[in-house]
Amino acid sequence: MSLPVISQSAPSAPYEDPLDLMDEIDALKKQKDASILAHYYVDGEIQDIADFTGDSLKLARDATKVKTSTIVFAGVHFMGESTKIMCPEKRVLIPDLHAGCSLADSCPPEQLAAFQEQLRAQGRNFHTVAYINTSAAVKSLVDWIVTSGNAREIIDRVPEDKEILFVPDQHLGRYLMEVTGRKMILWPGSCMVHEVFSIQDLIRIRKANPGSVVMAHPECPQNILEISDVVGGTEKMRKHVMGIAQPTTFLVATEATMIHPLQRVAPQHTYIPIPGIMSSSGETCACNKCPHMARNTLQKVRDCLRDGSPEIEWKDYFKTAREVLDRSLLQ
Ligand code: 13P
Ligand code: SF4
Repeated sequence: MSLPVISQSAPSAPYEDPLDLMDEIDALKKQKDASILAHYYVDGEIQDIADFTGDSLKLARDATKVKTSTIVFAGVHFMGESTKIMCPEKRVLIPDLHAGCSLADSCPPEQLAAFQEQLRAQGRNFHTVAYINTSAAVKSLVDWIVTSGNAREIIDRVPEDKEILFVPDQHLGRYLMEVTGRKMILWPGSCMVHEVFSIQDLIRIRKANPGSVVMAHPECPQNILEISDVVGGTEKMRKHVMGIAQPTTFLVATEATMIHPLQRVAPQHTYIPIPGIMSSSGETCACNKCPHMARNTLQKVRDCLRDGSPEIEWKDYFKTAREVLDRSLLQ
């Protein structure tokens, strides 16, 4: 996805009362016949007014059940694209076109096509499996799409006589090799948020909280997953905490906004977000927040509903991507 250059000095929006904005959004939803889908990593206030919240898999499935003619997807660009692909007849709006994803950006479609060509020229017999965090152009080049919620099940569907080229997340791919026993060729991509969790801080916080449970997203590197008690995507984390009645301290190694849906469904627990670490100085930072997800604000949700833009436009290659998404997520 090529993104326009953004001015560093762009003025921030003037303050507006969140409760007034929520009322405005509610009225606009009815007026414009719209529903809001929100990923667990967007601001809690947006999750609270959404019609559907979820991880990538749940939201992709929920999108196909929406009855209104317009969907506002509060998340990042590839999620808006996937929604348009699954629901071509609907108008799909996203609050900020610049909300990208470091993982999706790490696998440009031309580079993937060239690498696949190279493998074919070597006579390699393979299927390409892509994490859903990829552009629609990449999705149109692959055999399977996985999310953190169905990856294992989809890998099991790849015929045994095929090699697997897994793109773009090297950490998720490595973890899947471990749990499925399948060898994979890994694309060297990673998520800027999950890549930077500080193992030292995690060990220190765990020591300070005896009996705590470490929950980590499989986009984290191996050193974090190795000392985690629960490894899973955001929906799995949510279900896990809901299933435990006894108040427990959870150390959470994923995007920090995830604490909001966890607290909503299981307020009896204590949640501690694991901090990130700055690669430049080695100091602990607040980089466990995704800057792309943070581009979604109540103001922008209101503006895109009111203006009917930015909109995800249908592109020819969405048709091929749709066949892959359908067989991977819906069948
Ligand atoms: P899930 O919510 O599907 O686990 O994905 C996490 C993520 O990084 C989304 O960008
Ligand atoms: Fe992409 Fe990582 Fe942000 Fe998810 S958290 S949208 S994978 S950059």
